[in-house]
Amino acid sequence: MKYYIKTFGCQMNFNDSERIKGMLQTLGYQEAKDWQEADIILINTCTIREKPDQKVFSHLGEYKKLKEQNPKALIGVCGCLAQRMGFELIQKSPVVDIMFSSFNMHQLPELIQQAQAGYKAVAILENPPDDEDKLWDYPTVRDNPYCAYVTVMKGCDKNCTYCVVPKTRGRQRSRSLESILKEVRDLVSDGVKEVHLLGQNVTAWGKDIGKHFSELLYRVAEIDGVERIRFTTGHPKDLDEGIAKAMGEIKKVCEHIHLPFQAGSDRILKLMDRGYTKEEYLEKISMLKEYVKGITFSTDVIVGFPTETEEDFEETLDMLKKVRFEQVFSFKFSPRPDTPAYSMEGQVPDQVKTQRMSRLLQLQKEIMGEVAKSYEGTIQEVLIESIEHGNKLIGRTRTNRWVSMEGGVEMLGKVVKVKVIRSYPFNMECELV
Ligand code: 5AD
Ligand code: SF4
Repeated sequence: MKYYIKTFGCQMNFNDSERIKGMLQTLGYQEAKDWQEADIILINTCTIREKPDQKVFSHLGEYKKLKEQNPKALIGVCGCLAQRMGFELIQKSPVVDIMFSSFNMHQLPELIQQAQAGYKAVAILENPPDDEDKLWDYPTVRDNPYCAYVTVMKGCDKNCTYCVVPKTRGRQRSRSLESILKEVRDLVSDGVKEVHLLGQNVTAWGKDIGKHFSELLYRVAEIDGVERIRFTTGHPKDLDEGIAKAMGEIKKVCEHIHLPFQAGSDRILKLMDRGYTKEEYLEKISMLKEYVKGITFSTDVIVGFPTETEEDFEETLDMLKKVRFEQVFSFKFSPRPDTPAYSMEGQVPDQVKTQRMSRLLQLQKEIMGEVAKSYEGTIQEVLIESIEHGNKLIGRTRTNRWVSMEGGVEMLGKVVKVKVIRSYPFNMECELV
């Protein structure tokens, strides 16, 4: 029996899919190369913006054909869209046999049995169940042998007015320190060098269990064999001095942080309920620079939030100029059902969003060109993650930039020093030192 999983959305979703793969393999399934040869297809969905929603339905239309060749084949939908739409999804797409929410992935084995017996297997929960931690007991199928995602918390306690995540993933639940450390130790014994701690708001880890995120960083760093630590996503409000200090003190923590600012205007930040001003965000950036020498930044921005004026938007551009992010992920505001921003007055016309977006991209392109140039001639530490065409090594710097260089398979999984020969916005050609 073979499975095929199509994953949309964030790294958390990709890690969930790695866990689902682990469960399926425990049940005796193997991964199919493409969906045509699968006995079960799962779509792990995202609903953060309207676009990923639409993609799910177009994929379902395609996957429907599987049942013509293989009438016993099962089609499942899980993740955030499943959670948000519930039964409405199966009504819209009767081809779906299995549906579960992000709260109860661990129930997949039972759901498959039900579906095989000919029932629609739907398990959408309103709240996370008490036994959701059972998920951690399953082995995980890793997509990358050297860098591993480790989910350390689920859900989010913030109330950003544009965001569906508190609805689809629930309130914050931190995973216990013991459970995380055990997973990291197991990963290291499997050859993993870099751990990437994941959470919707990872900097708030521990707040619900009387702990602080910096403790997690120190404890993970104590594990022999962990060479690098990264984490995503940080929230500026929870990023305090304790975290900045830990990042600076712990050599294993990479000098990079993804810290979404979303908007540069204080008025818009307030409407978004982000809990900080532009000035406060910039103070966090200065604090990080002070504690973590050479730190680089990436961010998320929303363009065209309700009532955003030209002046508000210029504050966003100003933020890009001031911080000079290495990477900016920018999104046109997409009204999500059941969020406060959905029904706010003053929705910005799509045409205006598109124009602002293209100005933002143009500015960031210039900044990235300059940032890239500043790397040329420098020495960087790189973890070699993969190889292409037998001799092109691919890796990442501590500051989260992709590099490539010549070399052989024996270099895979090694942390090496390289010299940057030529640097482009998204890649750097290097030489081993
Ligand atoms: N519209 C546009 N972008 C959004 N994001 C979250 N919700 C929305 C929305 N409704 C963006 C934010 C977040 C990233 C993952 O997606 O920038 O940080
Ligand atoms: Fe998409 Fe957010 Fe769900 Fe991740 S948590 S899959 S970004 S909706």
